[in-house]
Amino acid sequence: MPTMLFRSNADRADWWRETVMGELPELDFRIWPDAGELADIDYALVWKPETGLLASLPNLRAIFSLGAGVDHIFADAELPKHVPVCRVINPNMALRMREWVVMQTLMHHRRHREYDRQQRMKVWQELPQPHAGERKVGMMGLGELGGDAARYLAMLGFDVAGWSRTPREVEGVTGYHGADGLDAFLARTEILICLLPLTDATRGIVNRGLLAKLPRGASFINAGRGGHVVEADLLAALDEGDISEASLDVFQTEPLPADSRFWDHPQVTVTPHIAAFSDPRALVDQVVENIRRDQAGDPLINTVDTGRGY
Ligand code: NAP
Ligand code: GLV
Repeated sequence: MPTMLFRSNADRADWWRETVMGELPELDFRIWPDAGELADIDYALVWKPETGLLASLPNLRAIFSLGAGVDHIFADAELPKHVPVCRVINPNMALRMREWVVMQTLMHHRRHREYDRQQRMKVWQELPQPHAGERKVGMMGLGELGGDAARYLAMLGFDVAGWSRTPREVEGVTGYHGADGLDAFLARTEILICLLPLTDATRGIVNRGLLAKLPRGASFINAGRGGHVVEADLLAALDEGDISEASLDVFQTEPLPADSRFWDHPQVTVTPHIAAFSDPRALVDQVVENIRRDQAGDPLINTVDTGRGY
C-alpha cells in the first residue's frame, strides 16, 4: 500500500485527504506532523516543507509541489537530489495568471493610477494615450505561465517581446534569450513583467543595474517571486522616477511586513500572492496520475530539472 505525506500550512489537508483517497482508496494518506514511521513514506505532497523533512524520508519516491514554483522545495539545503520533483502545470493556473497579468498591464498602459487619483480630486482631464500597438511589453520567462500571458497580451495588440534562457517561440511575441539577449530586450521594454522561476541564476535579477537598462519611466509587474527583486533598488528607482509604477504580487517576506514601504508607496499596487491561486480541484488529478504512473512503473509527468532548479 503506497503512503503519502502531506505538509502545507497553506492548503486544506482534510480536503486533500478525502479527495485523493476518493481516487486512490488504498493510499495511506498521512498529514504532517503525524507522519508515523518515516520509512513508510513513498510520496510527499508539499508547500514550503521545513529544512530536512524530505531528507528524513529514506524511501521517498517522488515529491509533489503544491504550486507551479518549486523554489520552496529547492530552498531546503538537505533536499535529497535523487528524488524526482513534480510541479503544477495546469490550464486553470495559466488562466488565473493571464487574468492578473493582463489586468495589471492594462492598468499601467491605460494610466489607471493617474485617473484614480484624478477621480478622488474630482479632476476631469484627458491624458495622452498611445494604443496597444505602440506599447512595448517585455515578459521575462516564457514558460507555461509567462508564455501564455505573453501570447494573450500580443492578442490584445501589444508589441510584446519575451526573454527566456533558451530560444522560445511564442505566437506574436519577439523572442530574446540568454545573457546576450537581455540588454536589447530591456532597452525596448516599457512595461516589464517578471514570470521567471526563482533559481540561483535569477535571484536578485531585478536590481538597480537591470532597471537602469529600461527606458526611463518604464513600469514593472512582478508575479514571479519576491526573491527576483532587490526591493531597496526598486524603491529607489520608483522614488527617482526611473520606474513610473509597479504592481507586485510577491515579496521577499510574505506576508508583506506592516512597515514595508511598498504598502504606502503612491506608485505601487500590492496584491497578497494571489496572481494565480493553486486551485486544488485542478491539481489533484496530476498528483493522482503521478502516483498511478509510478506504481505502474511509468514515467512521471511535470517533473522539473533538479540541476537547473525549475
Ligand atoms: P516555467 O514553465 O518553468 O518557465 C520558466 C521560464 O523562465 C522559461 O521560459 C525559462 O526559460 C525561463 N528562465 C528560467 N531561468 C532563466 C534564466 N536564468 N534566464 C532567462 N530565462 C530563464 O515556469 P512557469 O510555470 O511559467 O512559472 C514561472 C514562475 O511563476 C514559477 O516558478 C513561480 O515562481 C511563479 N508563480 C507565481 C504565482 C503567483 O501566484 N504569483 C503562481 C504560480 C507561479 P526556458 O524556456 O529557456 O527554459
Ligand atoms: C504559487 O506561487 C505557485 O508557485 O504556484
